[in-house]
Parts: sequence; C-alpha cells; structure tokens
Amino acid sequence: MKKQWKTEEEQFFGIGIYQPKTSHNIGTLWRSAYILGAQYIFIVGGKYNGQTSDTMKTWSRIPFYKYDDFDHMYNSLPHATQLVAAELCENSTPIRNFAHPLRAAYLLGAEDNGLPEKVIDRCHKLVQLPGKSSLNVSVSGSILMFDRINKLEIED
Ligand SMILES: C[S@@+](CC[C@H](N)C(=O)[O-])C[C@H]1O[C@@H](n2cnc3c(N)ncnc32)[C@H](O)[C@@H]1O
Repeated sequence: MKKQWKTEEEQFFGIGIYQPKTSHNIGTLWRSAYILGAQYIFIVGGKYNGQTSDTMKTWSRIPFYKYDDFDHMYNSLPHATQLVAAELCENSTPIRNFAHPLRAAYLLGAEDNGLPEKVIDRCHKLVQLPGKSSLNVSVSGSILMFDRINKLEIED
C-alpha cells in the first residue's frame, strides 16, 4: 500500500543532559525543548525534581525519562533513532555541515566536565557549535534544536 505521508514526516527528537549539575540549566533547557518541538526529554544520572525556570512544567506535557546511566539510556533509545552527541572537540562535525537524523536523541554534557570520551565514542553522530570556548549547556541545546527546525522543516 502506498504510504499517505512524506518521509520527512517520519521524525521526532528527544534531548537530554548527561549527569547534569545545575537545576536552573535543566529547567531552562526543558522550556526551550518543549517550545521548539521536542517529543521527550531526559537526564542520564544526576537529579532533577523541577525548577522555576521551566515555566512550562515540561515534564507534565511530554515524557521525562530519568536514566540510571549511559547504558540504560542507550538501551532505551526509541527504534531507529540516532544518538547525537554535542561537544566541542576536534573530530566533531561543524553544525553548518551537519545533517540532523530524522529521529534523533541529542545528548549534552555536564556543566563542569562535558561528555566523557567513552560516551562520545558510543554516540552515532557528533556535532559542534561555532566558537573556541564552550557555551552554556542549555544555550547549546537551544541552538541545536533551532538548527534542526530550520533544516528539517516540512513543506506542504
Ligand atoms: C559548559 S559545556 C561543558 C564544558 C566542559 N567544561 C569542557 O570544557 O569540556 C556543557 C555542554 O554544553 C555543550 N556545548 C557547549 N559548547 C558547545 C559547542 N561549542 N559545541 C557543541 N556542544 C557544546 C556540550 O554538550 C557540553 O558538554
């Protein structure tokens, strides 16, 4: 049977932070994630029990997953979904050349230590934002999502 939808519509994304430290950052990221169209949010390790910066109470609108560790998150990835690490490192693809997977889970690093190499090695894609120094984690996530929206916009 011929499908009734376009291939570009076979898409969704989640976004999360690995071992986050600052609730304020997480809350800010969740708010952007909800507004910019994320279908789910997550943390890997660390704690988060809500923050006033998440004025949308995003956890009440889309699923919020709390994974115990990287393996737990990796093994729980939705079917046919690519894990995209965001990190400023030598071998990461500059965002201007980056093609977002249709189904993606974006993984950001902790405010202090970023993403460990062993985690980056297991991600399917690695992307970097412009600049010689690291951006704030929630700012990075928002830029990534904005880029995704612009590149994957579905035309009628
Ligand atoms: C504040 S940064 C961590 C910086 C860490 N102290 C370091 O120097 O490696 C927090 C997270 O934001 C994201 N991030 C910050 N700047 C980035 C950039 N230029 N490109 C991609 N991701 C970035 C990464 O996920 C990073 O792990």
